[in-house]
Amino acid sequence: MTFARILGTGGYLPDRVVTNEDLARMVETSDEWIVSRTGIRERRIAAAGQTTCDLAEQAARAALAAAGCTAQDIDLIIVATTTPDRIFPSTACLLQDRLGNHGAPAFDVQAVCTGFIYALATAEKFIRSGSARKALVVGAETMSRIVDWTDRATCVLFGDGAGAVIVGTDSEPGIMSSHLHADGAYKDLLTVAGGVSEHPEILREGTAHVLMRGNEVFRMAVTTLDNIVEESLQANGLRREEVRWLVPHQANTRIIAATAKRLGMSMDQVVVTVDRHGNTSGASIPLAFDVAVRDGRIQRGDIVLMEGFGGGFTWGSILLRY
Ligand code: COA
Repeated sequence: MTFARILGTGGYLPDRVVTNEDLARMVETSDEWIVSRTGIRERRIAAAGQTTCDLAEQAARAALAAAGCTAQDIDLIIVATTTPDRIFPSTACLLQDRLGNHGAPAFDVQAVCTGFIYALATAEKFIRSGSARKALVVGAETMSRIVDWTDRATCVLFGDGAGAVIVGTDSEPGIMSSHLHADGAYKDLLTVAGGVSEHPEILREGTAHVLMRGNEVFRMAVTTLDNIVEESLQANGLRREEVRWLVPHQANTRIIAATAKRLGMSMDQVVVTVDRHGNTSGASIPLAFDVAVRDGRIQRGDIVLMEGFGGGFTWGSILLRY
């Protein structure tokens, strides 16, 4: 039997740091308000002209180096993004060209903040079925391009970045299970209205911005993440205390703390980057994972629960032994 295992990780953040104080000079807000409601202190913002694929390329190269392989070894490329460089080709195809890989299937996954979970779950199924042997899975975003910088309710929340993993084969699991869900009935609670086909005028006017009913999103996120934690543990017959690390989507420390409490985990078993990265949507989980692998917290053999929630609504988890 073939299983999927993460062989290496990479991450990349743009150079420009935007602090809460910087934002307080742009909109009516304060460091105190942002930190107390969200836990965010600063975020990185891409330079003018720096695209999602630029960030993805850096993260991908770091992951390839960590896994000790080259772009030519890769036979599947998946990019989770909600802020693609172009309408088409996919950012995965643009990335493939940058890396000099030819012929591997390459496609984007759009599940907003749950995108990386969807992408990694997809890669796992390709590997387990024997359709791929080495997959590059990236979460990359330039959320700053779809944020209304005059709206204090949303502009303080987001940041830019990219994270990546290389997934390979193993005779034992690695990825133990994945759990994916969506409910489109909640499409309007967290959305960017305006696209190619519906309200193209919004796209033309350059006002395609994140719209969010924050309170309702918050409540749904907490309940849904509670449920997915239970679902992941039950599917594997695991006790809570067997999970060594929680790597959650990084939207808000209050949501993260609620999930950790449900798992009976102390916050020092939770990888938190939202204070420095903000919400980087599909990039947030692989970025946080990479940070904790590189600083030595996550060790080979540790059981890790990744979980995410985002627009759609979409939500999901991956339980793995690193
Ligand atoms: N600075 C200062 N005040 C702000 C503000 C800001 N940046 N943003 C909003 N406010 C104000 C509001 O205008 C409102 O003022 P009012 O009472 O005079 O009308 C007040 O603060 C409370 O707003 P509210 O939206 O109820 O705050 P909240 O406690 O729900 O916190 C969020 C807002 C966005 C932090 C919170 O709802 C949240 O985290 N939601 C989930 C977000 C999320 O995770 N999204 C991504 C999921 S992938």
